[in-house]
Amino acid sequence: MAATVVRAQGSEEFRRFGALLVEYNDDLPADLRHDLAPALRDLAAYYADPSAAFVARVDGEPAGCVVMEHLDDGSAVVKRLYTRHAFRGRGVARALMVALIERARELGCRRVVLDTDREQLVAAYRLYQSLGFTECEPYGEVDYRHATFMELRLDGGASLRSRFERDGFLVVPGFVSAAAIAALRMRAAEIVDAFDPSVAAGIFTTRDESSTKSDEYFLTSGTTVRCFFEEEAFDASGALRQPKELSINKVGHAMHDLDPVFERFSHGPRFDALVRGLGLAEPLIYQSMYIFKQPRIGGEVRWHQDATYFDTEPSTVTTLWFALEHADRSNGCLWVERGGHRTPLRERFVVDDGGSRLERLDDTPWPSEAEAEAIEVEAGTLVVFHGLLPHYSAPNRSATSRHAYTLHAVDGRALYSPRNWLQRDAAFPARGFV
Ligand code: FE2
Repeated sequence: MAATVVRAQGSEEFRRFGALLVEYNDDLPADLRHDLAPALRDLAAYYADPSAAFVARVDGEPAGCVVMEHLDDGSAVVKRLYTRHAFRGRGVARALMVALIERARELGCRRVVLDTDREQLVAAYRLYQSLGFTECEPYGEVDYRHATFMELRLDGGASLRSRFERDGFLVVPGFVSAAAIAALRMRAAEIVDAFDPSVAAGIFTTRDESSTKSDEYFLTSGTTVRCFFEEEAFDASGALRQPKELSINKVGHAMHDLDPVFERFSHGPRFDALVRGLGLAEPLIYQSMYIFKQPRIGGEVRWHQDATYFDTEPSTVTTLWFALEHADRSNGCLWVERGGHRTPLRERFVVDDGGSRLERLDDTPWPSEAEAEAIEVEAGTLVVFHGLLPHYSAPNRSATSRHAYTLHAVDGRALYSPRNWLQRDAAFPARGFV
């Protein structure tokens, strides 16, 4: 019969667990034995939540135990993994580890860590590997000489980062709830509804940036919430081709600070942990945009790298792109060059005494059609990309819009160029995610 595992909670279970703990200790070589006296004085208190003790049974008989200790940094530590001799080879240790990992997940732990000895405890090492553990830096002191430290990431941290570093982007489906999407869409519609185009009719295009972006309306929008029209919004006579709400290209660029609905969405420990996990030690959000990609007239955004607009030394700008609607080839989804973040920065958009202009830095060509990869995603997907990743989106000629919301963050430790178009000052500083 397979092993069943319970978390010790009542006095009877703790008594059984205590007997296993003593047996485990006696089974160790003399020089590796632990002083169990502090734990044995009151096991229930010693292993109280969020720590835990687990007992495995086979055919009703106690067969093994393990304990989980909880560290303040969100790590769960595996200790005292033991299978009684009579029950070895029956999956007891695996069942104990699975129960422990499940409990760590319930508690929201970042990772499960353990120490073992790769050379001496080969079967244990293989078990941990098969459960997804990989070797890691020491997480604390141990009292034996040849410790092998291992971890299992529960927050996806290591694997997300390694994928991000390999590809230059990440696709995380299901990151935004349907309720959050609805709230953002409703608020964006309200902002557009309140927008009076007769006051300022800014058009957003990436085609000829030396002229169009010198426009005062754009250049002073970094600390405001403004609407920009699609380039094809107007006919030859200057009248809107479609209703106003179907003519706006985007809203930007400080709604993450100034608009209560977008402010609430744009901040929180989940975003903070994600970007820190990707290497931004002091994330600061400089820009937010709500992009409509309107049906039929949704404008193309040509190949570019976001570091062109957010120059830091070293380059750190990281983009969070949230799909608020399904995006595919027909309605102008993102296209990227996988791994293209390892190519140089081609252009820099600068503003100085001479006005705004696009400086050419490097002649590396943009990716060919064959090198471009369509990122077709469902609503609620988060796409994160590196500031040097070449990307573009084609025009939307379909009858379906393709709404998205974006945040651009840089690392506060890097030098933010004073020639970037978007500047914040002490009166309105860029803030982090929390
Ligand atoms: Fe971009």
